[in-house]
Amino acid sequence: MELLYCGIKNFRNVSDAKINFTKGLNLIRGNNAQGKTSVLEAVYIFARGRSFRTNKEAEFIAFESENSDIEIEYEDSRRKNKMSAHYDKTEKRKLYKNGIQINRTSEFIGNFRAVLFTPDHLSLIKSSASDRRLFLDIALSQIDPKYVAVLKKYNLLLAERNALLKDRRAEEKETEILFETLAEQMAPVAASITVLRKEYCDRLKKYVEDYFEQMTAGSETAVTEYESCVTDEGDVLLNEKLVKELYLKKFTDNIFREINMKTSLYGPQKDDIDILLNGYSSRKYCSQGQQRSLAIALKLSEGDISADITGEYPVYLLDDISGELDSKRNAFFMSQLKERQIIITSCNIKNNKKFDNVITMKNGGVIQ
Ligand SMILES: Nc1ncnc2c1ncn2[C@@H]1O[C@H](COP(=O)(O)OP(=O)(O)OP(=O)(O)O)[C@@H](O)[C@H]1O
Ligand SMILES: [Mg+2]
Repeated sequence: MELLYCGIKNFRNVSDAKINFTKGLNLIRGNNAQGKTSVLEAVYIFARGRSFRTNKEAEFIAFESENSDIEIEYEDSRRKNKMSAHYDKTEKRKLYKNGIQINRTSEFIGNFRAVLFTPDHLSLIKSSASDRRLFLDIALSQIDPKYVAVLKKYNLLLAERNALLKDRRAEEKETEILFETLAEQMAPVAASITVLRKEYCDRLKKYVEDYFEQMTAGSETAVTEYESCVTDEGDVLLNEKLVKELYLKKFTDNIFREINMKTSLYGPQKDDIDILLNGYSSRKYCSQGQQRSLAIALKLSEGDISADITGEYPVYLLDDISGELDSKRNAFFMSQLKERQIIITSCNIKNNKKFDNVITMKNGGVIQ
């Protein structure tokens, strides 16, 4: 997959930019606060359906503007495509693919695919379980449109259940029936999320193990495990019917405790990925350097799995990563991405020669 072009109007501090990209290594350079990350943010919206910096769309409309337009042109194995998005302070956003308006996010995500790597990802291993679930959710959303739909459905049902648990009348008879109905609706949806995540983690296991072994010259091991709240038996987690039954039991057996706690205690929203580093939980025991190496392994694996499933490598968007990694890790990471399209931002790269395309940004614009 190759990003060919990005057009940006009134998005953050970028008032009007038309940027062409090439195959290979693209550098977006410029001093601090010139709009480099804003360009990556705009491009990534087409991969994820939303920004990686905010959930509030109004925040990225330029301060003095009422609306913002972004568009990309990219080429996949079949054809050239155009996608665009229009954001307005007072209206709902509008998304388009090849001129046709798209209403469902599940139809928007999965067309243009990208792996994003920002300095925040470097602490993924030790940060919260929700960040690691988000890693899975974003990766899976781009390769399986069904996943976006089931996740949305589950989150709506979960919000309904949590609202009911907070309700003063939660112990009344009619509410009991509502809890039963919700459990029956939620169990199959939760089961498909769990099975898809478990299958993804099994793929991840193979790649992460291999990358980590290469990075440590075979002296250390990393084994990725999906941690589910329903069982720790891996084979069961791959059986949707059994997982559904386990969820149904969890959703009904613990209801009084949940009413007391006023929240749902079980479900995919409680799951996590654990990486066993030399046999011990990396979440608890890894060093800063090991954490960085594992984050690199995860990001490389994310791209490989996307290529295994879709048949082509995604575009790699790297926000200021080289400034955060030591030269050995940086060299390893970049060496693994040869022949792929990379868009990298940086304010301190001195040698431009190794880049196939250099874009310089100043005051939210591109200097040709
Ligand atoms: N909605 C907005 N309207 C106008 N300007 C904005 C808006 N949101 C953010 N900005 C400004 O845009 C500028 C560019 O931000 P951006 O993160 O793209 O910079 P950058 O070039 O990546 O810098 P750095 O090298 O520090 O990471 C910042 O000064 C920020 O305050
Ligand atoms: Mg930046």
